Amino acid sequence: MNTPIDTDVLAAKDLEQDNAINRVLVLEMVRVTEAAAVAAAQLIGRGDEKAADAAAVEAMRRAFDNLYMDGTVVIGEGERDEAPMLFIGEKVGMGKGPKIDIALDPLEGTTITAKAGPNALAVLAAAEEGDLLNAPDVYMDKLAVGPGLPADIIDLNKSASDNVRAVAAAKGKDPSEINVCVLDRPRHADLIAELRELGCGVYLIGDGDVAGVIAVTDQDTGIDMYMGQGGAPEGVLAAAALRCVGGQFNGRLVFRNDDEKARAKKWGITDLGRIYKLDDLARGDCIFAATGVTDGSLLDGVKKRKKSTGAVIMTTHSVVMRASSGTVRWIKGEHRIAPHRG
Ligand code: FBP
Repeated sequence: MNTPIDTDVLAAKDLEQDNAINRVLVLEMVRVTEAAAVAAAQLIGRGDEKAADAAAVEAMRRAFDNLYMDGTVVIGEGERDEAPMLFIGEKVGMGKGPKIDIALDPLEGTTITAKAGPNALAVLAAAEEGDLLNAPDVYMDKLAVGPGLPADIIDLNKSASDNVRAVAAAKGKDPSEINVCVLDRPRHADLIAELRELGCGVYLIGDGDVAGVIAVTDQDTGIDMYMGQGGAPEGVLAAAALRCVGGQFNGRLVFRNDDEKARAKKWGITDLGRIYKLDDLARGDCIFAATGVTDGSLLDGVKKRKKSTGAVIMTTHSVVMRASSGTVRWIKGEHRIAPHRG
């Protein structure tokens, strides 16, 4: 006989975990990524990165207005003078309630969307004030593996080959059986050659390393590791997701010039060579929410369907996760879009 579920115990557990990141807020975050994804989806394959990004930004900005929180964008569309909306430091939400820091990318994969490629997402992470690294908009060296491996199995100070060998040994595999996801960029030529020399499978992605990093947590993707340089803001977003579902991450900021170093100092980063692990990027309780814009390894994209009544239905696929409970919710939404008038 099945043991009955004690709902009082479940409720008590939920209350225990209730803090600034309350349960209502967790689900509300999906409305925000859904809004951005639906807006961006109207521009899939239209060859216009800027328009797709602007549509997502505007929709996300509007969706935040309805959230009961005193939110601050800590990773956003750029600095105040570079971005009209969702700039770093911008206040979002109703201005009442818990103080929440938000890292966001209304359209992660602008080029993907413009070209109708895979894995574009509307994405955000939220945590209590001060709990997300205020990463400057520079590159980050990233190294990630999924859950279930010995602690500190990866180390950015070691070579790619040494990291592959360590992960292969822990998984009881030969290095040639390890699959590594890497952004397809000329700067990764040496890394790709080194991995191929070991016989690894190298899964090259054109863009979208938030999905690339998260892919290591899903055995169905066949991807064991993520390696290479991508945006530091995207590193914080991916780290928030790994905090919720498990896995390990090493990130190190990459500075190409003095201006980038100065940016980092402005955000209070003094140790420029520091290796950041998951807890350094997203501490405490945190939420990760994403909605697919185009079909991808993590989520299906937005689908548009016209009903016989003439109503247009946009279907979205989202995921929302919370670090403190480890709960992962997959949410399918159907959104009725008002037909054009006039
Ligand atoms: P955008 O959505 O801003 O275009 O970012 C896409 C992306 O591929 C990220 O996922 C990744 O971190 C970054 O660009 C890599 O930067 P670059 O294209 O300069 O190599």
